[in-house]
Amino acid sequence: MPLNSDTPLILAIETSCDDTAAAVLYNGKMLANIVATQKIHEQYGGVIPELASRAHQQHILPVVDSALKKAGKSLNELSAIAYTQGPGLIGSLLVGCQFAKGLSIALDIPTIGVNHLHAHIGAHYLNTNPPKFPFLCLLVSGGHTQIVKVTQHLEMEIIGSTIDDAAGEAFDKAAKMIGLPYPGGPLIDQYAANGNPLAYKFPIAKIEGYNFSFSGLKTSILYFLQKHKAEDPDFIAKHLNDICASIRYTIVKTLMQTLERAAFDLNIKEIGIAGGVSANALLREELVNLGKKNNWSTYVPAFEYCTDNAGMIGILAHYQYLKGDFASINDMPFTRGH
Ligand code: KG4
Ligand code: ZN
Repeated sequence: MPLNSDTPLILAIETSCDDTAAAVLYNGKMLANIVATQKIHEQYGGVIPELASRAHQQHILPVVDSALKKAGKSLNELSAIAYTQGPGLIGSLLVGCQFAKGLSIALDIPTIGVNHLHAHIGAHYLNTNPPKFPFLCLLVSGGHTQIVKVTQHLEMEIIGSTIDDAAGEAFDKAAKMIGLPYPGGPLIDQYAANGNPLAYKFPIAKIEGYNFSFSGLKTSILYFLQKHKAEDPDFIAKHLNDICASIRYTIVKTLMQTLERAAFDLNIKEIGIAGGVSANALLREELVNLGKKNNWSTYVPAFEYCTDNAGMIGILAHYQYLKGDFASINDMPFTRGH
């Protein structure tokens, strides 16, 4: 397989969960970034894996096609095809992985398997002013919550992670208990904007090291809602904004307390956030506030690169390409984080 360029044109595909996405990057610059979000899961209150795989199969061709069209590029100009190798849902990952392999055989170009979590952090490299190495990144997505020390584009060390639910999961499960549709994180964020964050007090877990836990919060929200609904069946409707603001405040405070401690201990002042939950308005605001207080330089990826997208897969693949880190035809998706 010839490497046809040191300024690669990369088609990137992301199908780890419920968004089918494709991006085209030329020499690390975004030419097109397309996401088709699967609406079918809303009615079930969570992602149904089998339905996600089927929807990926329906979406992948049109999504790739429109990314290439938007970029003004054709298949035979591509240098490589990148795909999300994991972690994620196996059926969803297989669609992107096998699609990439098939196309790479037809075009006789290499594939690049990309770690979805590394790619969320790599979204920072798409910024015009990316963080300087070494930086700390709080990665907060639907499935993961980690603090990662990044020493080079592709060198990342997890220094803390959740011992149970992820922050995004905590938002989504709280939203479900309140009766909001999936994914509830963005809705809690919206309602919280008009609520009092100190209206109700929920527990902030303090875990050893730089780790997190959100299962206690989930239980306390459940009991809190049960108690108040028994007294007044309309309690949630009457106090929705305050409930959402208090939950958002607790989750953000839990995250930021530990991030601040890690940054202090490691003496790192380049601090970023990444992943779907980094779209949260309070988290973004608190990062800036803590940055001012501690003299940090703070970084948040552009909004479209916070939630799942193929642009972040493409930029990581760009650096893997330059390093010669290509996938083999025998490589298979992996479902769990590493
Ligand atoms: O990174 P992502 O798109 O997918 C995974 O890799 O998991 O993250 C999705 C998560 C969901 O839990 C969603 O509720 C949460 O990110 N999320 C938010 C916001 N936007 C997305 N959570 C709180 N506030 C938001 N504005
Ligand atoms: Zn993600």
